[in-house]
Amino acid sequence: MFSEERSAEVVAASFTDTPDDRLRTVLSSLVQHLHAFVKDVELTEAEWATAIDFLTRTGQKSDANRQEFILLSDVLGISMLVETINHRAGGGSTESTVLGPFHMVESPPRELGDQIALDEKGTPCLVSGQVTGPGGEPLAGAVVDVWQANEDGFYDVQQPGIQPQGNLRGLFRTDGDGRFWFRSVVPRYYPIPDDGPVGQLLNATGRHPYRPAHLHFIVEAPGYRPVTTHVFVADSPYLDSDAVFGVKESLIRSVPTVDDPARAASLGLDNPFRTLTFDIVLQR
Ligand code: BEZ
Ligand code: FE
Repeated sequence: MFSEERSAEVVAASFTDTPDDRLRTVLSSLVQHLHAFVKDVELTEAEWATAIDFLTRTGQKSDANRQEFILLSDVLGISMLVETINHRAGGGSTESTVLGPFHMVESPPRELGDQIALDEKGTPCLVSGQVTGPGGEPLAGAVVDVWQANEDGFYDVQQPGIQPQGNLRGLFRTDGDGRFWFRSVVPRYYPIPDDGPVGQLLNATGRHPYRPAHLHFIVEAPGYRPVTTHVFVADSPYLDSDAVFGVKESLIRSVPTVDDPARAASLGLDNPFRTLTFDIVLQR
């Protein structure tokens, strides 16, 4: 029989006959933790109703273009925890971080050296790096998928009709030495979407919605584990208070200014420009 003392045990026992072992394990543990939480804070009926309303509105805010539940997972650090547990880096391989909700379209295939800032708004930046395996072996033909927000802190998919389609996205293949390079603009910090229940949660708890400036990468090569990651701009605000806890020390790079008119002209960039170098090491 159900009682305050035995509540978790009784409910967990109802799952004993679950045929799928993993489902039984996950549900039993979930029930133990949820019941312990309710007892710990002595949840009131009003708080329970608020929670139900919050989750209902979180679902209602979600559609094909907006995933408020993932955003909730992000601001609670769950996305980063799941990501970190499932992609333990090692032996100097590049650390991963959250995918985020803005990789919702295929990046357009581009040639090395191409300009991905189709509106060319912002501070010009040469992005380059080398993809290698754990022994430093260059990975020729590796796929490097990149996307970033513009100068105003928005992704193209957030501003249809304002930004050109495919703005600040690109799918590159590394050259024979595993190298990639392309022209872009320095990314800017931006707020995660905060006009829904998750924004209200941040507001109620005195948290800001900002992510530090970053450029997203997914890098893949046959025979190696793909990595989903970002490179963060070293002088960006919010590096120490990312709303989704995505920052890892090993992913921060300075973006020095180069004042060299001849080099700028040969690259097709305005002078002066900035350079962001991000080498990527994949695990076998
Ligand atoms: C992003 O970096 O694109 C992102 C990640 C998590 C939540 C919102 C945005
Ligand atoms: Fe982002």
